[in-house]
Amino acid sequence: MHFDIFPETSEHQAEIDALHDLSFGPGRYAKTAYRLREGIPDIAELCFVTFAGEGADYRMVGSIRYAPVLIAGRPALMLGPLAMDPAVRGKGGGIELMRVSLEKARALGHDLVILVGDPVYYAKVGFKPVPHDQITLPGPVDKSRLLYLALRDGAFDGVEGQVSRITA
Ligand SMILES: CC(C)(COP(=O)(O)OP(=O)(O)OC[C@H]1O[C@@H](n2cnc3c(N)ncnc32)[C@H](O)[C@@H]1OP(=O)(O)O)[C@@H](O)C(=O)NCCC(=O)NCCS
Repeated sequence: MHFDIFPETSEHQAEIDALHDLSFGPGRYAKTAYRLREGIPDIAELCFVTFAGEGADYRMVGSIRYAPVLIAGRPALMLGPLAMDPAVRGKGGGIELMRVSLEKARALGHDLVILVGDPVYYAKVGFKPVPHDQITLPGPVDKSRLLYLALRDGAFDGVEGQVSRITA
């Protein structure tokens, strides 16, 4: 399946909200990862949408966003939410959104990305489980789902401590 990836704009907001409702439900607001980025503007240049479909069916089918966080005071990215329309899942769109946005992040000089998600899925683009308690989140999280990706060799070495919100 062919996907076209574009930078997210304000015009996509309503559709992205609907996709998040569908994909994550209202329970997402209580999650630790959500609370870390709540009220913090996403990093606009790393947020992308993806379109697919034929003719009149051509529409937005996926979205990826990144928020800034601190790990023991050091800046890092938190990937999420990533969501694809159920009708096009399993066709490579999610991986493509990650490849494009992570490449852009690297080009912009970001060197470390974390997320809470499925280790098997995110391993496809290089994410690894955080070694035992090297970093922690300020709330409940399934530790086996806390993952990191170093965009520069050694970027995760010696990074230890609690992930916290960027404060304005
Ligand atoms: C998770 C999600 C974004 C994946 O997007 P997608 O476009 O369906 O994934 P892709 O088609 O790019 O995945 C490609 C590969 O990952 C595999 N994969 C997809 N979802 C997976 C999962 N949850 N666990 C393990 N592998 C998975 C596919 O089988 C495929 O494997 P292959 O290349 O070996 O055939 C999508 O299923 C979704 O929106 N889910 C609901 C929201 C969600 O859970 N978001 C992630 C929050 S952490």
